Amino acid sequence: MVRRTGRLFGLILGEWLLQAEARLAGAGVEESRIEARLLAAHVLGRTKAWVLSHREESVDPSILEPWIARRERREPLAHLTGEREFYGRPFRVTADTLVPRPDTETLVELALELAPREASILDVGTGTGCIGITLALERPDLRVTLLDVSPEALAVARDNAETLKAGVKLVKSDLYAGVLDESYDLVVSNPPYIRRQEPLMPEVVSYEPHLALFAGEDGLDFYRRLASETSERLEPDGLLSVEIGYDQADSVPALFLEAGWKLVERRADLAGIVRALAFQQ
Ligand SMILES: C[S@@+](CC[C@H](N)C(=O)[O-])C[C@H]1O[C@@H](n2cnc3c(N)ncnc32)[C@H](O)[C@@H]1O
Repeated sequence: MVRRTGRLFGLILGEWLLQAEARLAGAGVEESRIEARLLAAHVLGRTKAWVLSHREESVDPSILEPWIARRERREPLAHLTGEREFYGRPFRVTADTLVPRPDTETLVELALELAPREASILDVGTGTGCIGITLALERPDLRVTLLDVSPEALAVARDNAETLKAGVKLVKSDLYAGVLDESYDLVVSNPPYIRRQEPLMPEVVSYEPHLALFAGEDGLDFYRRLASETSERLEPDGLLSVEIGYDQADSVPALFLEAGWKLVERRADLAGIVRALAFQQ
């Protein structure tokens, strides 16, 4: 509800933005100014540029109130807007999927370099489908399968594949149980890798699916499964490429080397932190 008539509702957009920013900052939201603008744009059905250039518009604060209250309770912004950009494309996000992180673009870039022409790719733990769908769209020569144990996540991945027009196959499976007849040139995975006692932001621990986050006491349980079960799913000379947590650049390679794998690539993010690894048998 935006009116061009000044203070029809007793508040102009510029004032609302300042109040919203202060409330979000008070609730511990780090990027409170940007988020207030994004929320206003979403609720008013406008672009962020429109919000910035229409500060004198009269707004009805009662329409904005429930959204700002939800964000104050630290519900993730992506849950409120229903989407998050990844590798330049919008992905639908729900409470059943991990919110795609910029960190994961490091794994995508490594996979794009590693994948031979016309390779078959399996994205294990696909969530929104952001990794596999991006690979399929960036490299139409690839044959991509998206796999997740969560049927709800897989439904979101299917929706994203359709909206973004990515030709991918989808499989519901507990790790490889549903693809035992298949083999791949490259398995990619951003698996659950958080240790049980890790202190987490409220957005993460209270709203994101724990199935997508936690991997046992030391955060390494899913890597252990990948290390022991992946070789049978790979073509000769096939590769496994995984995202790792910011502090797992030693522990994850150690676990794979112990299981007979060779570390063939390490890729750091822009901050210089190693976030993606590739292994071969
Ligand atoms: C860290 S999230 C990654 C989601 C997405 N690939 C991304 O990068 O945003 C891990 C995903 O693994 C899935 N998952 C957890 N356990 C699984 C299992 N045993 N087999 C297959 N997928 C599993 C979760 O449902 C979740 O979607």
